[in-house]
Amino acid sequence: MKLLFFHVIIIMFDSFTEASHNTTAGCAIIRPPRDGGIRYRGLTQEQIHSVQVLPVDYEIEYICRGNRVIVGPKVRKCLPDGTWTDLSQRSKCLLPCEQVWTSLENGRVAVSPPGPAVEGTVLRYSCLSSFILEGRNTTQCTKQGTWDSPKPTCRYNRHHTGKSSRCLLHPL
Ligand SMILES: *[C@@H]1O[C@H](CO)[C@@H](O)[C@H](O)[C@H]1NC(C)=O
Ligand SMILES: *[C@@H]1O[C@H](CO)[C@@H](O)[C@H](O)[C@H]1NC(C)=O
Repeated sequence: MKLLFFHVIIIMFDSFTEASHNTTAGCAIIRPPRDGGIRYRGLTQEQIHSVQVLPVDYEIEYICRGNRVIVGPKVRKCLPDGTWTDLSQRSKCLLPCEQVWTSLENGRVAVSPPGPAVEGTVLRYSCLSSFILEGRNTTQCTKQGTWDSPKPTCRYNRHHTGKSSRCLLHPL
């Protein structure tokens, strides 16, 4: 029950996060993504604290806390109609998962969706012919920035007799 309540708060917060208002003078400030901040170019620290509206063509840039990476628009620009660009696309600061997992010795890795490996990214492993996969053929990046199953290995299969085995050394 507590969890559900927390979830509702998050949703309310999120819908407020990227709301914008129509003002003829420019765009109302918007909130940064969770675990992120906004870089205001050309403003002093004091201006940043007091500003409510930013001028047309002004660009804000999102920055993420720690080693989180931005997924979605990194920059938004104030449009003449008083809205920010790409408001239909959420920007999120997500923890990356170790990139070394996105390559496999003697095998291939398909990353989906393409791009940096972050929360929700799924890797599909396969081995080159003559090699067999040991371990699970998929892994997913979790919210904690860790992969949910161990990286498999491609083990050389000397009994392999497929087309691609022409590189094998045969005893004389
Ligand atoms: C914003 O407000 C102004 C004046 O109130 C109006 O002329 C303009 O059409 C509005 N723009 C949008 C996108 O609603
Ligand atoms: C991945 O492994 C699962 C079960 O371990 C299997 O059903 C599936 O066919 C495998 N996928 C590929 C592409 O090898």
